[in-house]
Amino acid sequence: MCEREGGGQSDQWILGGKEGEAGRGCRMLDLPFLPFCVLLGGLGFVCVAFVSAWCQHWRGGFAWDGSAQMFNWHPVLMVTGMVVLYGTAALVYRLPPAWSGPKLPWKVLHGTLALVAFGLAVLGLVAVFRFHNHNGTPNMYSLHSWLGLATVLLFSCQWLAGFSAFLLPWAPTWLRALYKPIHIFFGSTILMLSVASCVSGINEKLFFSLKNGTMEYKRLPTEAVFANTLGLLILLFGVLVLGALARPSWKRPDADSPDSCQVLALPTPLLAMDYLHQLSGTTNVYWGYMRRAATSLVTTGATEGGAQGPVAPQLCSPSSTARSTAATATAPGSGCSSRAELM
Ligand code: HEM
Repeated sequence: MCEREGGGQSDQWILGGKEGEAGRGCRMLDLPFLPFCVLLGGLGFVCVAFVSAWCQHWRGGFAWDGSAQMFNWHPVLMVTGMVVLYGTAALVYRLPPAWSGPKLPWKVLHGTLALVAFGLAVLGLVAVFRFHNHNGTPNMYSLHSWLGLATVLLFSCQWLAGFSAFLLPWAPTWLRALYKPIHIFFGSTILMLSVASCVSGINEKLFFSLKNGTMEYKRLPTEAVFANTLGLLILLFGVLVLGALARPSWKRPDADSPDSCQVLALPTPLLAMDYLHQLSGTTNVYWGYMRRAATSLVTTGATEGGAQGPVAPQLCSPSSTARSTAATATAPGSGCSSRAELM
C-alpha cells in the first residue's frame, strides 16, 4: 500500500518505507485534484439537468399549488441539495488552498454549503408533504419515505453537532478531537443514505407513473431509460465523492497523523509556554530539553491515569512532540500542526 512520507509535508510516496519502482508507480497514478473537481462539477450539473428535464419534459413541469407539478420540485430539490450540494460541501477541505492559512473561512464555507443543502432538502420535503396532503394520500408509508426522512433527520443532527463543536468558540479542544472522526464517519454515511434515497425515490416514481399499456415500465419507454440513467449518474456522483474523501493524497496534510493527538496530551500550561516560546522566536537547547522531559511526564501520567484525552497516549512520543513543535514554529497554520487541524 502506498503511504505519504512525513505526514504530507513532502510529496514523496513510499512503499514499505523506501521509495522504489512501486512508489514511482503510485506517484504516476496520483490524479490531480482540480481536474477531478471539474469532472465532478460537470457530473453534478448533469444530475441536476437530468432530474429537471425529466420532471419538465415527462412529468408536466413545476408549480407550487399542491398539484402533481408541485411534487416535481421534490426530486429536483432533493438531488440538488442532498447529493450535489452536500457532496460539494464534503469536499471543501480537499481543495489545496484550504490546506494552509486559517481554517475558519473553509469551515464557514463548509457549514454554509451544508446549510443551503439542508434548506433545499426541507423545501423538497414541504413539496411532497403538501402534494400528499392536498390529494389525501397517506404520508410516510413507503420504505423510500422512511429512509429519506431518517437521512434528513441525521443530516440535521450532523449539522447542529458540527456547528456546535467546530464553529462555536467555547467547544473544548478535546471535544473537537473526540467528535471529529464521528463527524467524518456520519458525513460519508449521510451521503450514501442520500444516494440510496434518491435511487429508491426514482424507482418508486417510475413504478407509480409508468402503468398504462404503452407506457409500462417493463417495456422500457424513453422516460424509463432516461430516469434509470439519472439514478446511475447520481450513484456515480456519490461514489466519486466518497472516493475523493478516502484518497490519502487529497487530505489536508497531517489530518490523520499521530501528532494530531499532541494537543490533547499536553496540558494547557505547557501549550501556553510553547506559544510564548514561539513568540519570543528563540531556539535554546534548554527549552527543548525541558519540554521533552515535561512531555514524557505528561505521557507517563496519561498512561497511568488515562485521563489526558481520548487518543492513546503512547502515540504522543517526545519525538513527535518535537516534530510537531518544529512544524508549528516554522510553518504556522500550514496544516501540519495538530492545533490548526483540530481548530
Ligand atoms: C435524499 C433524497 C430524498 C429524500 C430525503 C426523500 C424523502 C421523502 C420523504 C420523507 C417522502 C414522504 C413524504 C410523505 O409521506 O408525504 C418522500 C416521498 C416521495 N419521494 Fe422522495 N426523497 C428523496 C428523493 C427523491 C427522489 C430523487 C425522487 C424521485 C422522483 C423521490 C420520489 C418520491 C416519491 C414518488 C414519493 C411519494 C411516495 C412516498 O411517499 O414514498 N424522492 N420522499
